[in-house]
Amino acid sequence: MGRVVAIDGPAGAGKSTVSRLLAERLGFRLLDTGALYRAVGLFLRRKGVSCELSDEALEKEIAGASVGFSGGMVVLNGEDVSTAIRTVEAGNDASVFSARRPVRAFLLQMQRDAGEQENLVAEGRDMTTVVFPKAWRKFYLDASETGRAERRFHQMQEKGSPISMEEALRDIRERDIRDSSRDIAPLRRADDAIYLDSTCLSIEQVIEAMVAEIGQ
Ligand code: DC
Repeated sequence: MGRVVAIDGPAGAGKSTVSRLLAERLGFRLLDTGALYRAVGLFLRRKGVSCELSDEALEKEIAGASVGFSGGMVVLNGEDVSTAIRTVEAGNDASVFSARRPVRAFLLQMQRDAGEQENLVAEGRDMTTVVFPKAWRKFYLDASETGRAERRFHQMQEKGSPISMEEALRDIRERDIRDSSRDIAPLRRADDAIYLDSTCLSIEQVIEAMVAEIGQ
């Protein structure tokens, strides 16, 4: 088993950037599990699959999906979907479908296999609790609701798909409720995860705090 730095936290807390830079700093591979859920969400959305489908039927639909990473790209059935999965809609689809058992079961082993093969910085919602409960180091990265909405607002502006502050706040609130209240693998802070609030910290300060905790 490789060494896994597991990072969980709500949408917009800065996990993606922090995890990417931390992985570079440690020389570990980055495992962005939200990207996997987004790719599955995109696959199901394109197929017109309803979120009300039974577990059995959903399991059959997902069997036709092949998702993974290749050369820094997120690949869905051979197609580079790195950009297509970064819209607000794709985030919502991922959040909705990720609450379903067949979707989580489909991605669980793939994530664990990655941790068997090499050292990882793994980020998502259930890294510290379900996927890597025995991770080498665990963090819960949080930020205030307004701070997270502002981050989302600026991200979407930079991407050229602007949304209003109200939309950003609504998106964050809806995702918080969905990701934390689902029955399977809900977002929660593991008892043994180090809690970091990034609201008043720069990315560099968050990384320094993590590196200090990791002790490397
Ligand atoms: O981190 P993100 O915004 O890319 O994640 C998109 C959605 O995917 C998130 O709202 C919930 C789901 N997700 C999950 O359920 N479990 C994970 N480990 C990662 C993401």
